[in-house]
Amino acid sequence: MRIGVVGGGLMGSGIAEVCARSGVDVTLVEVDDDRVERTRAAIDKSLHRAVRSGKLSDDDCAAATERIAYSSSLDDLDGSDAAIEAIVEDEEAKRDLFSRLDAILPDADFLASNTSSVPIMKLGAGTRRPERVLGLHFFNPVPVLPLVEVVRSIMTDEETLVRAHDFAEKTLGKTTIDSQDRAGFVVNALLIPYVLSAIRMYESGFASKEDIDEGMVKGCAHPMGPLALADLIGLDTLLAVSESLYEEFRDPSSVAPPLLNRRVEAGLLGRKSGRGFYDYSGR
Ligand code: NAI
Repeated sequence: MRIGVVGGGLMGSGIAEVCARSGVDVTLVEVDDDRVERTRAAIDKSLHRAVRSGKLSDDDCAAATERIAYSSSLDDLDGSDAAIEAIVEDEEAKRDLFSRLDAILPDADFLASNTSSVPIMKLGAGTRRPERVLGLHFFNPVPVLPLVEVVRSIMTDEETLVRAHDFAEKTLGKTTIDSQDRAGFVVNALLIPYVLSAIRMYESGFASKEDIDEGMVKGCAHPMGPLALADLIGLDTLLAVSESLYEEFRDPSSVAPPLLNRRVEAGLLGRKSGRGFYDYSGR
């Protein structure tokens, strides 16, 4: 099987790596050669980390590396059996991409989006076969977290759902849950208001960021606190998801606090930019 992965940032590189480690051939498309090289380096680094920690043999690492072809041209997806989109959380860019994928892959088993919040129906509507379009929402870091939310739009057909479930569970070894096509799906609809309220708590001076995070780690057994989690998600992605949630539900719990807006405007996007609520430049 060959899968096309579009976008090689935090999520796309993880999705490509997991596919390749599961024996799937991958064509990964990024916007330009610079981004292609950045993605290749990120995947190589992650694969070698898995080798060092004993989770992957040298031979399997070499085989996974071999299975990923990189390109800056979407046309190179021609011949893929299915595609997963993981570009920036921008509705217009995603809609445009889906109509292009539809033209390049007329016989694809499925065209999936990893979007956190854009309604799948809006992506399917720009294609000639919305019944083949669905959401496959992975979690960060993709090689570590087992969950994939399978999101069915009102047009997705049964056959596509079965194929996507089989792909996520049998081919990739992930655990799936089903979600309706609503902003935030299941997990982010619960998670994002929680992270935003932690930012509000920090912004108001009620508690320090370290104490907020330690409180949730030590008091609730969370693996990391909400502000460290915001940095891991990426503050731009967090902002985009909160805006989509608010647009859909008009619930004040999804309104982005000014501090989040200011950090995104300043380019402090979290781990991926070296600084968010915490400083990662020395790591
Ligand atoms: P990111 O900003 O790390 O990566 C996005 C990548 O897409 C960039 O490398 C960019 O160059 C590339 N790109 C943009 N337009 C493109 C195009 N037309 N063709 C090819 N590549 C293009 O973002 P991240 O975090 O990887 O998020 C990607 C998607 O995954 C978003 O929809 C986001 O909501 C979703 N997501 C993010 C999670 C997270 O924890 N960050 C978790 C689950 C889903």
